Amino acid sequence: MFGTKQQLRLAGKGRQAFGPAPAACRRRSARSVVVRATASSNLNENLGFQTMRDGVKVAAAESLLTPRFYTTDFAEMEELFSDQINPNLDMAELESCLQEFRNDYNKTHFVRNETFKAAADKVTGPTRKIFIEFLERSCTAEFSGFLLYKELARRLKTSSPKVAEMFLLMSRDEARHAGFINKALSDFNLALDLGFLTKNRTYTYFKPKFIIYATFLSEKIGYWRYISIYRHLQRNPDNQFYPLFEYFENWCQDENRHGDFLAACLKARPELLDTFEAKLWSKFFCLSVYITMYLNDHQRTKFYESLGLTTRQFNQHVIIETNKSTERLFPVVPDVEDPWFFEQLNRMVDVNTKLASLDADTNMPAFFKTLAKLPFQERLAAYVIQMLFCKDKQVGSVDIDGSAASQRLAF
Ligand SMILES: [Fe+2]
Ligand SMILES: [Fe+2]
Repeated sequence: MFGTKQQLRLAGKGRQAFGPAPAACRRRSARSVVVRATASSNLNENLGFQTMRDGVKVAAAESLLTPRFYTTDFAEMEELFSDQINPNLDMAELESCLQEFRNDYNKTHFVRNETFKAAADKVTGPTRKIFIEFLERSCTAEFSGFLLYKELARRLKTSSPKVAEMFLLMSRDEARHAGFINKALSDFNLALDLGFLTKNRTYTYFKPKFIIYATFLSEKIGYWRYISIYRHLQRNPDNQFYPLFEYFENWCQDENRHGDFLAACLKARPELLDTFEAKLWSKFFCLSVYITMYLNDHQRTKFYESLGLTTRQFNQHVIIETNKSTERLFPVVPDVEDPWFFEQLNRMVDVNTKLASLDADTNMPAFFKTLAKLPFQERLAAYVIQMLFCKDKQVGSVDIDGSAASQRLAF
């Protein structure tokens, strides 16, 4: 359903950042590229990555916890924001977001320098493996946003030109982010073929309102992840082993603006925030995003340790801050500061670790492995169900009549 033109544009952006090599240097640099590629290939030996062709990595297998590509009911999305169907839609907040996007604050931010490749060659062994996996997941997540926003821009162009332009400008940002990370992967001689992924990856369908809840949360959690890593590395520059992290301060502002736009979309359609159903879904989406991140990151503690972070503290900080941002919009959020909440997440990590070690056991026959995993899968499912009934907070936007937050203001 999505074309491949975008991929070509992404590849072009990456090249632009360096500019064409002067003719006099071309022969020498061609030789050095071969030498570097060989050096990078050697560094990748025994890391267990497969390549489709030289310098292009086979994408990691999809699982419940890997970043997904999304699709939605575009006709229903048009109905939500169509100018003709909703002539009284409150566009004030959306229009201020549009002006912010048009300002394009990061137009010249994503320009690489000569330190990238040299830094990549110094990352070796297990850190190299775990860092490449981090880059791949980040690139896939950014590219997923690009595809979804680009398609929404195309489909809303006639019925709601302003909302369409906002999606288009967000897809511009996500293309930059994905392209920038993919150039980083090419420093490791393991870039992703994003055109191939576009055509071959599974697309998960979500109803429009669920797409907006989920993307709002992923933008805000993305903001808190990037800024928390950036601030940590500013305090601990010795742990900054690759220059990508230096770009996170301005980069995360893109994600914050994207989250603000999606918040404005929800406020323009208050029925997505003030009904009983909206309360149930708000809590559900918060929990699914927080649980996914917590379990995922605890499977990759070595990456966070390589940055000098403690995975558990980092995750808890990101979840607490994302929840604070979210409670100014969603009518209900889980009470993540209730001690039970993280105790329960830690119990889930313990079970998930056991499942992962069973999966990694190459000596156990498949049938016994399936049997051995069953009690842990049941326990994990039970923990998730208990989590759905965790303590919550009645909150919401002060701009939405009837929200708990607006009632508290009406003293
Ligand atoms: Fe992004
Ligand atoms: Fe974003």
